[in-house]
Amino acid sequence: MSRPICATIDLQALQDNLDRARGAAPDRRVMAVIKANGYGHGLVTVARALAGADGFGLTCLEEALVLREAGIRQPLVLLEGFFEAAELDPVARHHVEVVVHHASQIDILERARLPAPIGVWLKVDTGMHRLGFAPSSVGPALERLRACSAVGSVRFLSHLAFADDRRDRRTESQCELFQHTLRGLPGERSLANSAGVLGWGASHLDWVRPGIMLYGVSPFVGSTGEQEGLRPVMTLGTRLVAVNRCRRGDAVGYGGTWVCPEDMAVGVATIGYGDGYPRHARSGTPVLVGGRRAALVGRVSMDMIAVDLRGHPDARVGDPVVLWGAGLPVEEVAESAGTIAYELLCGVAERVPRHVPAGEAVSAAV
Ligand SMILES: Cc1ncc(COP(=O)(O)O)c(C=O)c1O
Repeated sequence: MSRPICATIDLQALQDNLDRARGAAPDRRVMAVIKANGYGHGLVTVARALAGADGFGLTCLEEALVLREAGIRQPLVLLEGFFEAAELDPVARHHVEVVVHHASQIDILERARLPAPIGVWLKVDTGMHRLGFAPSSVGPALERLRACSAVGSVRFLSHLAFADDRRDRRTESQCELFQHTLRGLPGERSLANSAGVLGWGASHLDWVRPGIMLYGVSPFVGSTGEQEGLRPVMTLGTRLVAVNRCRRGDAVGYGGTWVCPEDMAVGVATIGYGDGYPRHARSGTPVLVGGRRAALVGRVSMDMIAVDLRGHPDARVGDPVVLWGAGLPVEEVAESAGTIAYELLCGVAERVPRHVPAGEAVSAAV
């Protein structure tokens, strides 16, 4: 790859973050959530590095098939379940488990004739009002599933809607409603996402489902991964490709939205929204040039950004630039771009090579 742009993936940090999840929720099984290409880090790379996880949470069958093809043997759970009947045969043959969140999925299961029964996670809506059966519908849905020859074990899950705010008492209500709804019913339970793992012990139950924390990012509003004992996994880097001497009053980039307040050096780094760097990052968004902070100026282009190099008198073409990761929390960049770290990590474009440094446990990023 000629363009000096790269997402470096630190697999040791990934494994350490899994240990952090295990330490926070001891004796629970961990379903590591690695959907959306391992939150942008590389699906197979992440799955192999998380060999210690008890299972993996995914979005769709295609992801599961890629993992089975790569030799991943752990339980795989489709967190949105299946979308059409044709998926059920490969689901059964590859021992993939599915979430069932809607009666229309049970209709399909009742008609299915499969080579083996499939494991089901019945989703309960405890307050997010996105997917799941209302508590009053759980009994009838369960009865139908149990009568279905296509269905093997039935377990239960729900999803936390407010857990990223440690003071929001609605998380406690969700935990209580989940337990109350399932009282007396046999079957394992799962409720905790990363915020549940780190902040809400009542949500731990049988299986926890951490996602974002595994990648070193805080699940809480107003804190960074480092403050939560996590280590960044992805460092997105590039280089300066130009250092320009600009005059006071020169307008930088499309629309000239940023104007040089004095004669100064402006650097140009090769990264832009075509790579997944956020188009809405404001002037002032931090970057690291040669390991030291500098500020983005002007609009983000498809392939380039401009950087204020006052304070970097020695900056040269070829100097390394870090957009987020080691030394620069992705949470801070997300805040400055009016978004969340999840979106930045998942949005790193395919054209950005993922690089696992030599000596790490997995040799090639996917
Ligand atoms: C059903 C489900 N469980 C767990 C997770 C993991 O959440 P987080 O990345 O906040 O830990 C997700 C992610 O969106 C999810 O959809």
